[in-house]
Amino acid sequence: MNAPMSTKPRLFLTRRIPEPGFSLAQEAFIVTGGDEDRPLERDSLLRGVAGADALLCLLTDTVDGAVIDAAGPRLRVISNMAVGFDNIDVPAATERGILVTNTPGVLTDATADLAWALILSVARRVVEGDRMVREGRFEEWSPFLLLGRAVAGATLGIVGMGRIGQAVARRALGWDMRVVYARKSGPLRPEQVPPGARWEHQQDLDDVLRQADIVSLHVPLDAATRHLIGSRELHLMRPGAFLVNTARGPIVDERALVEALAEGHLGGAGLDVYESEPCLAPGLAGLSNVVLLPHLGSATVETRGRMAELAVQNAIAAVNAEPVENAVNPEVLSRMMSPWIDQI
Ligand code: DGY
Repeated sequence: MNAPMSTKPRLFLTRRIPEPGFSLAQEAFIVTGGDEDRPLERDSLLRGVAGADALLCLLTDTVDGAVIDAAGPRLRVISNMAVGFDNIDVPAATERGILVTNTPGVLTDATADLAWALILSVARRVVEGDRMVREGRFEEWSPFLLLGRAVAGATLGIVGMGRIGQAVARRALGWDMRVVYARKSGPLRPEQVPPGARWEHQQDLDDVLRQADIVSLHVPLDAATRHLIGSRELHLMRPGAFLVNTARGPIVDERALVEALAEGHLGGAGLDVYESEPCLAPGLAGLSNVVLLPHLGSATVETRGRMAELAVQNAIAAVNAEPVENAVNPEVLSRMMSPWIDQI
């Protein structure tokens, strides 16, 4: 007698993901891939995805029309384990009726904390100080040693006042900061502003840049935000101001940033993301007034666990034609009403 055919849908995992996401995936799907913690070669991605009902990918994977076509007609959903989805060609997915999902919300606090780690590190020269001590160059206390800039009472500029931008701004309450912000969809509603907060919406990004002592970027990467911060914008910033980027590298023209830092116009920069990750623009690593992190925004055990779990939950909901909260292209949802099993 033939063994009964498994009725589980198929999920292709491009890379190892943390628990509880991995176990949940195995319960709900026939899982292939996901054995190693490194990005897949393009060929392996194209081969591996063939025949999948769901593709679970990460920001290190480029998922374009060719990958979607290689998956074949069963593919229902591309579930990205990230809030950003610039690694996916969403119009190509939409055109083919494939849902794209992401993992917003669960990484808000982790990313806001890391933006603050960068703000404090760069303004108070924490990494320079650490290096000095380790290298045996700390000889004695001096009234002039590694002077930074005051963060308390300074003006914080937030570019992109979504979930993460607001979480960064809420933390600024503890530093008694005025916050000036730019937001694509206009000012926040009064009930979205915490009591006592001095959050001032600016119509124009330039006005944020002109007023802030520290500018923190929180917009998604798309055609409109690529190089949003170039040489002109960097020179609109106040002399000695700091730039922090925990969003996506290409939002900043990294070569222009190196110039603005090297010429001394800016006080420093704290970067978690890079224009051509993991490569750095020439000259960046040689500057002492930058703090450079390897894309750690969501890197806590708790957050990465939730991201993996949510990415799998999104895939499960999509293949079962259940409501999917985190759809990036919700217009596809109405076309997906029949569950995957109808296709067997
Ligand atoms: C995201 O989710 O987009 C983050 O960059 C991952 O850390």
